[in-house]
Amino acid sequence: MSTLIQQPVAGLLQRLFTQAADTSSPVFASFADGELQRLMHSKTEYQSFYARLKDLPLAVSPATGTLLYMLARSCKAQSIVEFGTSFGISTLHLAAALRDNGGGRLVTSEFEASKVAKARAHLEEGGLLDLVEIRQGDALQTLAVDLPASIDLVLLDGAKALYPEILALLESRLRPGALIIADNAEHSPEYLERVRSTANGYLSIAFAEDVELSMRLG
Ligand SMILES: C[S@@+](CC[C@H](N)C(=O)[O-])C[C@H]1O[C@@H](n2cnc3c(N)ncnc32)[C@H](O)[C@@H]1O
Repeated sequence: MSTLIQQPVAGLLQRLFTQAADTSSPVFASFADGELQRLMHSKTEYQSFYARLKDLPLAVSPATGTLLYMLARSCKAQSIVEFGTSFGISTLHLAAALRDNGGGRLVTSEFEASKVAKARAHLEEGGLLDLVEIRQGDALQTLAVDLPASIDLVLLDGAKALYPEILALLESRLRPGALIIADNAEHSPEYLERVRSTANGYLSIAFAEDVELSMRLG
């Protein structure tokens, strides 16, 4: 059996994904034409952009969540770093994989205090909080220090424009064969250019819905 499909995690994820599927929030309609696209590409306005979205889960899809669990299990990940915790939906999938791999450490990062509180409560409800360190603050700072010596898997799902900078912070710790999953990476052409060049030390493909899957060579 697997932590992902057993209680309490299965029921919790069902509830959270139902909530995440609700797109009726007026916040979505509050963006002017082209504004959303511009903000998703911005390296300077991401804090105010995500502050507007602070009450929304903005979660990976259920299929991407399952993919995260499968990849973390199949590479026997013990050390995972996540950029963009939000309500902790992707975090629950990754932490469930750590549990089923026999344990490990997941460092995740979120700057919205209310989201950190929600994610912590969800991980506690799922019985997975002991595996997760949630770092509150801008990941450009919180992921610049005290990283695991070796990283098996990375999820990039915070401000899209910062994917190259966050990857640069983690790069020296990626073990050969480490997997990097980037959600909605089409909003960072700079990131795609970097990981799609073997000269930069990666193999990378567009994989499944909205996901760029990359592997560290070496
Ligand atoms: C798309 S959501 C993450 C969804 C989450 N991975 C899930 O599937 O449940 C992106 C989150 O990243 C956070 N974020 C964006 N840029 C950040 C940064 N520079 N540092 C910390 N958190 C950031 C936002 O507040 C938002 O909650």
